[in-house]
Amino acid sequence: MDTMIETRGLTKEFRSGKKTVTAVKDLDLHIATGEMVALLGPNGAGKSTALRMLTTLLAPTSGSAYVAGYDVTSDQHAVRRAIGYIGQGNSAGHAQRVNDELVASGRAYGLSRAGSRARADELLESLGLTEQATQKVMTLSGGQRRRLDIAMGLIHSPGLLFLDEPSTGLDPQNRANLQQHVVDLRRKHGATVVLTTHYLEEADSLAERIVVIDHGQVVADDSPAALKSRHAGDRIALTFAGPDEAARAAQRAAAAHPAAQVVQDGTAVDVQVAGGAAMVTGFLADLASSGLAPATVEVARPTLDDVFLALTGRSLREGRTDIRTDARTDITEEVAA
Ligand SMILES: Nc1ncnc2c1ncn2[C@@H]1O[C@H](COP(=O)(O)OP(=O)(O)O)[C@@H](O)[C@H]1O
Ligand SMILES: [Mg+2]
Repeated sequence: MDTMIETRGLTKEFRSGKKTVTAVKDLDLHIATGEMVALLGPNGAGKSTALRMLTTLLAPTSGSAYVAGYDVTSDQHAVRRAIGYIGQGNSAGHAQRVNDELVASGRAYGLSRAGSRARADELLESLGLTEQATQKVMTLSGGQRRRLDIAMGLIHSPGLLFLDEPSTGLDPQNRANLQQHVVDLRRKHGATVVLTTHYLEEADSLAERIVVIDHGQVVADDSPAALKSRHAGDRIALTFAGPDEAARAAQRAAAAHPAAQVVQDGTAVDVQVAGGAAMVTGFLADLASSGLAPATVEVARPTLDDVFLALTGRSLREGRTDIRTDARTDITEEVAA
């Protein structure tokens, strides 16, 4: 397969006063033509910064990046012509009419007036915005607005599309619609798609390949299925009558299974461990010997959040407390998610 994106040691540092933040560190990325890749990571991981370098909006501090065969540093115009970019901010002007804004954007990419109009009509139709075509951008709902952003990024039928958190701010219905459009448009145009997200389910369902990023660095890069089978064990999910019982059970589980990831959230306790399904009986007997009886017990296959937890010791979901026990020093640390 052809190479669409190739980065080597791509790094971005931000300096404010004496402080230096390394937003992206030594990113080596190889993305083939036609791939659909999700960059997954928590807020502040460096996803947007990586995308902004690949789309020439930010200059790298060091390292190199080739996008569609062009150097992002020395050949910015060629890169921009080759890509569509749907950023986190809104790209359309508020007082403009939807249709005009879209046609103008096509013209800016070098389409003829007639060609740009035809393409705008086609996109408005396929994104369910035909009825809004003559409305001003500021009158659109959040979901319509986001779909207009998508149309803006697709007006010139880019072979390579970057989407930065495309679903953020959308309700579940519109999120599903948008995801379907991305899948369809990719099928029709055979485009390469790189998206960022902190929605685990979105990454799991949309992407064939997931690059997990944390603190500006790649911590894993594989298909969702391979990541799950390699990095996360089965999960035993328990609930207890009260948080005190849950806390005792969590401590007990961490002590009995040093290799396990143990997470307590209120009355819920999750124990993540390789071969966990086979351990359930013994585990419950151990709890019972301490006078702890769970109200419910469930055994589940790993999710991408489990993968992230296994790789970083933190959860991508908010409001969870991760309790890890270091077997050698017997220190229990609590890490706020
Ligand atoms: N323009 C900027 N100036 C200074 N720091 C920045 C700037 N943009 C991003 N950062 C910092 O870089 C890190 C990565 O940010 P970002 O790429 O936006 O992460 P993500 O998109 O994964 O949430 C964060 O620590 C953020 O505060
Ligand atoms: Mg971001």
